[in-house]
Amino acid sequence: MSKIIVLIGAPGAGKGTQARLLQERLGVPQISTGDMFREMKDADTPLAKEVREILASGKLVPDEVTFEMVKERTARDDCKGTYILDGFPRTPVQAEMLEQLSEEQGKPISAILVDVSFDDLEKRLTGRRSCPVCGEIYNIHFKAPKQEGRCDLHPEAELLHRADDTSEKVTVRLETYEENTKPLLEYYEKSGRLQKVDGKRLPEEIYKELESLLAVNNVAA
Ligand code: AP5
Ligand code: MG
Repeated sequence: MSKIIVLIGAPGAGKGTQARLLQERLGVPQISTGDMFREMKDADTPLAKEVREILASGKLVPDEVTFEMVKERTARDDCKGTYILDGFPRTPVQAEMLEQLSEEQGKPISAILVDVSFDDLEKRLTGRRSCPVCGEIYNIHFKAPKQEGRCDLHPEAELLHRADDTSEKVTVRLETYEENTKPLLEYYEKSGRLQKVDGKRLPEEIYKELESLLAVNNVAA
């Protein structure tokens, strides 16, 4: 049965890393609201300017703006079956909005927490680099590219360092997560829709567990 898989986790928990693997290997589309907002970076509209400023601050984009974008994106053909939401919902209001969408699309929600303690996140975030061409995620401490500052697959492109991956912004993002997103864990747990994976292990070990959770849920393509 098709489902909406919600990946929840603090900034740097590894949502993007895992969602990319699931997309590559199982063909389940990854919808990352953070990536979609970052793609607006070159647009010269008042909304894009507002979004840029919010992302740089480490705070959240308004719920309605975010939901409209998710609704439009998940209406596309590739989301006819199961899809993965990476970074949405992030507030109780967004969770309510997603309930509506789940009903309209006739797909139940299954939430998975990628659990990592805050102490481990700073190095993951400040050390993260990503490829502007393919989006591959690296880390100067844990997953360095073969050539410094260059993607293994696209060496012509210089790796990006996200503007919100500085120590100062990481603190704001973790506070934002604690205040707005953590309540969602109880929300999904109470309704029996939350599963947890230990996100402190190697990415491949976490992936294997996620893959088997999805297989149990009978959603793998
Ligand atoms: P978003 O892009 O979603 O950022 P985030 O939630 O802060 O999460 P990250 O992307 O930083 O971390 P991740 O869990 O994907 O980790 P990753 O796999 O990259 O959102 C950015 C901004 O957009 C928000 O602050 C907000 O302003 C806005 N926004 C987005 N969604 C919104 C919404 N719904 N509502 C309102 N506003 C919204 O891994 C991190 C690093 O760790 C990498 O270097 C990676 O190589 C490394 N790593 C990964 N796994 C492991 C592992 N197992 N062991 C060691 N290292 C690892
Ligand atoms: Mg991410």
